Amino acid sequence: MVRRQRSRRAPHAILAKGRSLRHNRDVLPTPSASPPKTVWAVLDVLRWTTAHFEKHSVASARLDAELLAAHAFGMSRIELYAHFDRPLAAAELASYRELVSRRLAGESVAYLLGHKEFWSLDLLVDPRVLVPRPDSETLVEEALDRLAGPGAGLRIADVGTGSGALALALAKERPEAQVFATDISPDALAVARANAERLSLAVTFLEGDLDQPLIPLGHFDLIVANLPYIPSAEIDGLAADVRSEPRLALDGGADGLALLRRLVARTPELLQPGGCLALEVGAGQAGSVDELLGATGFSGVRCRRDLAGIERVVSGVKGISL
Ligand SMILES: C[S@@+](CC[C@H](N)C(=O)[O-])C[C@H]1O[C@@H](n2cnc3c(N)ncnc32)[C@H](O)[C@@H]1O
Repeated sequence: MVRRQRSRRAPHAILAKGRSLRHNRDVLPTPSASPPKTVWAVLDVLRWTTAHFEKHSVASARLDAELLAAHAFGMSRIELYAHFDRPLAAAELASYRELVSRRLAGESVAYLLGHKEFWSLDLLVDPRVLVPRPDSETLVEEALDRLAGPGAGLRIADVGTGSGALALALAKERPEAQVFATDISPDALAVARANAERLSLAVTFLEGDLDQPLIPLGHFDLIVANLPYIPSAEIDGLAADVRSEPRLALDGGADGLALLRRLVARTPELLQPGGCLALEVGAGQAGSVDELLGATGFSGVRCRRDLAGIERVVSGVKGISL
């Protein structure tokens, strides 16, 4: 049995890669009565990392520490607590230390883990795609509310699909529908295709600008889009982990609405009469997009709030006159 020596030494050692604890100047002095710490257990590193992340203003410090620990130690988050006193091997600590350092350098947890859950789907993510956000599940909810029936004969398109999150969620919920998804980034489409294959969900992915690849395919019952909507001038001020996402997935032009405006102008030609356009928008943009849909002739325009109470989705229906 491994005997753990308790110490009040601050466990900065987990970042002191390859250096002796005794001689590391980053490590707080050891109280003279305490022996140096020789064994780290799961709870030790969770506590230390949470405090360290908080000190460095990492949002959701405890959650991030748990997710990284679970990944590095090959455990689920629940297992971390069931085995909180499990001593950690040097290789486990080395792998964890690497993840903690990269998180502190601004990489997002999802990229470090290589996965992100969206609509109960386990999606592969890497720096080629935006990390799907829980907010975007509001767009899936709105789309499903707008789509009557199980999906037989329905044609759905997701414009700017990224990891494929929205298209795959809709393909899962409406397995009888035909689902198409576009992106201008071939890199993003490679990730989306890999996700569709892993999840055995049928989506046709097409490369091109906005709706262009959809034009030869006829008319659609539903078009969803979570296009970039951050004003260009705000991007440099975003948190480091957001800035590590593709600029192509963030930059919405001068006021954030450049791509949305172009898509709204195009969609009446692509939708069936009675077909729906549903768009994710940034905080404070819903009013402008609501007006835009109204001015383009959409009817039944409405906004849907996300779990934080922010108007996150604007949708409208193509009337017969449009
Ligand atoms: C905000 S991300 C959303 C990704 C995904 N739909 C989601 O909700 O997680 C926007 C996506 O739109 C793509 N995009 C940007 N400009 C585009 C354009 N002109 N035509 C098609 N896709 C575009 C980006 O490559 C990126 O994958």
